[in-house]
Amino acid sequence: MAKNSAQFDPYEDDVFARIASKYDHLCDIFSLGAHRLWKRKMSSEIAATRGGVILDMASGTGDIALRVASKLAKQNTNTKIIASDICPAMLNIAETKARTKNLAESILRFQILDAHDLRSIPDNTIDIYSLSFAMKICDREKLIPEALRILKPGGMLYCLEASHIPVKPIHTAYMKYMEWCIPVIARIATGGDRSAHDYLLKGIHEMPNQKAFSQELGTYGFENVSHKNLSLGIIALHRAYKPKIH
Ligand SMILES: C[S@@+](CC[C@H](N)C(=O)[O-])C[C@H]1O[C@@H](n2cnc3c(N)ncnc32)[C@H](O)[C@@H]1O
Repeated sequence: MAKNSAQFDPYEDDVFARIASKYDHLCDIFSLGAHRLWKRKMSSEIAATRGGVILDMASGTGDIALRVASKLAKQNTNTKIIASDICPAMLNIAETKARTKNLAESILRFQILDAHDLRSIPDNTIDIYSLSFAMKICDREKLIPEALRILKPGGMLYCLEASHIPVKPIHTAYMKYMEWCIPVIARIATGGDRSAHDYLLKGIHEMPNQKAFSQELGTYGFENVSHKNLSLGIIALHRAYKPKIH
């Protein structure tokens, strides 16, 4: 079976097109606002690196790409950020937000891309590949090799994803809370559209824990893989390097 924790297929279900206009509110509701802290952490780390060409994959409404762009816009770097997603409705919202925030087109551009097949991007051309809250809904056997291929030697992968609280009883209690709470809130917020929370819950359940996922990245050829637990490990921020000689 493909390593797709949520078993989501963007060509079968246009759930993100259906919820695009509500997506930012849903993130606030599901995480009680904490997604802003997690995303701020990841974008601050990315903005503090040497820059170059940053590909924010499955960018959605652009939370990571826009945060990185607004930090770098003040620094006069020659960084370029590509915000990309397979869903035009999500990316349109990202573009509108970028215009509202006056983020320079010279720094930020938008591109429809499928994380599973990046053949329009040549090998060894991207300095940083970032992905937030999409690893669990993508096929890792396709996404990770594509990320590795397009990264420059020494380039970095950042992945922010739901993970496991290392203390098992607390993790079990948290999952029980999520299983009860998310469907109720989601049904009200989406007007009964089950898809979004079904994928979310399935993805959180099936996504390997932080240690197993770090090992998995290593098996694809990434090195110096590390992670930082956020909010007790509910979320993990993974970092991995493409070897300098590849
Ligand atoms: C949960 S949202 C995350 C959005 C954003 N990164 C964030 O952190 O808020 C998942 C996004 O992944 C996109 N997506 C799903 N499968 C994809 C694929 N194969 N290639 C590119 N984007 C994909 C969806 O369209 C959606 O915008």
